[in-house]
Amino acid sequence: MSTPLLEVDHLNIAFGTRTVITDLSFSIAPGETLGLVGESGSGKSATSLALLRLLPPNARVTGAITFAGQRLDTLPEAGIRRLRGSAFAMIFQEPMTALNPVLRVGDQIAEALRAHAPRLSRTEVRRRVLAAMDEVALPDPETRLRDYPHQFSGGQRQRILIAMALVHRPRLVIADEPTTALDVTVQAQILTLLSDLRRSHGLSMLFISHDLAVVSQIADRVAVLQHGCLIEQAATAELFRAPQNPYTRQLLASAPTMHTDRSQPLATLR
Ligand SMILES: Nc1ncnc2c1ncn2[C@@H]1O[C@H](COP(=O)(O)OP(=O)(O)OP(=O)(O)O)[C@@H](O)[C@H]1O
Ligand SMILES: [Mg+2]
Repeated sequence: MSTPLLEVDHLNIAFGTRTVITDLSFSIAPGETLGLVGESGSGKSATSLALLRLLPPNARVTGAITFAGQRLDTLPEAGIRRLRGSAFAMIFQEPMTALNPVLRVGDQIAEALRAHAPRLSRTEVRRRVLAAMDEVALPDPETRLRDYPHQFSGGQRQRILIAMALVHRPRLVIADEPTTALDVTVQAQILTLLSDLRRSHGLSMLFISHDLAVVSQIADRVAVLQHGCLIEQAATAELFRAPQNPYTRQLLASAPTMHTDRSQPLATLR
């Protein structure tokens, strides 16, 4: 097995006296997509924010986080800031809140670019902004880069965020419910885009969703969280074929997908 790109070892997260993640360990290999599923409040977002060190100061985090052989949990803030948005990047759920409504999208992508490459010339920035928009199949980049976020559809706004996340060619992308705010057709288009991009860039991805059906379309492996504890982890096909934990079976039963063998009765809790 290859050395993992990301390794999380005995992660614990608490807010005050309330523990929300207990002893969570997982790893992601280069080029691999790990799906993290669990119901609302199970600690998925807290986990992703802990990896990026974006939790508020009232959060207590312990455990080792290793990225590309480097310990992140002991890295000074400046080091984390250098990596955030360059070596690893984040795609959030709500494209409208993640984008600045009063800034043209071209300028926002340019800002993401300059954050880690301040010396790029104006021409080079423009060239790379257009390339980034083109890569996520935003129509007519030359004209649209002057538009504001509200002039795009929900799916297009998510494409803009994906373009911003990928602008520095990160090795790891953390996507927290990236398609939840979108309708089913657009959701499928964004999943296809993410699948294509991760293949063409050899990206590793932590893909977070409460929806096992969505996760199954993109993840190589799935980790199931319940009340902050990892209760099961398996290759996607394996998890669908033979879920070990009753909670996983319950999640599967409520999410029929293309992996569900419809000739068999749905798994039920006994
Ligand atoms: N800043 C915070 N202060 C106190 N508690 C918090 C904070 N952020 C999250 N929590 C708590 O931690 C738990 C896990 O929250 P988290 O946002 O990680 O859930 P989630 O699995 O992402 O849920 P959802 O599917 O609804 O996004 C919840 O009980 C939540 O109330
Ligand atoms: Mg969440």
